[in-house]
Amino acid sequence: MKDILDEKEKILREKSLDVTFPISEERKKLVQDIIEFLTDSQIEELAEKYDLRPGMGLAAIQLGIKERFFVVVHEYEEGKFDNYVIFNPKLVSNSEEMIYVGEGEGCLSVNREVCGIVPRYARVTVEGYDQDGNKIRIRAREELAIAFQHELDHLDGILFTDRIDPKNPYKNKDLYREI
Ligand code: NI
Repeated sequence: MKDILDEKEKILREKSLDVTFPISEERKKLVQDIIEFLTDSQIEELAEKYDLRPGMGLAAIQLGIKERFFVVVHEYEEGKFDNYVIFNPKLVSNSEEMIYVGEGEGCLSVNREVCGIVPRYARVTVEGYDQDGNKIRIRAREELAIAFQHELDHLDGILFTDRIDPKNPYKNKDLYREI
């Protein structure tokens, strides 16, 4: 797999472009590589063996590919993973309730400690396409909902750090539920 870009790379600030179908075999292979990478990174022994930082999601732009798709590998139960690969994703509905990750959000492109609250919707519905061009609609809650919103942001050139007020990183903490 290509190297993951660090936040200093300006391309991470650019808006990715819609993907047109059919997608190439090369892209499908890349998607498989990303799934494998994200899964391994969340399995402690493998993460240690290959020196991987644990990560749940990756957007194409983080590999320097300006295309609107992302991959999320969610450990829904100890040692059990679900993969989500969404092309041209759109957030179509969201809860009013907002949540945040108590220990702070992380990103494979942000290689430093960043403290603060990133308010996210507790539940979202995302529509998009699978790699064969079939329309898909996924409802997500809690951690998975946060991952989707984090990756959607990447497609618009936004990093989680942009959503934290450096002067007041815990602003309005009590308005949101910690997970
Ligand atoms: Ni990220």
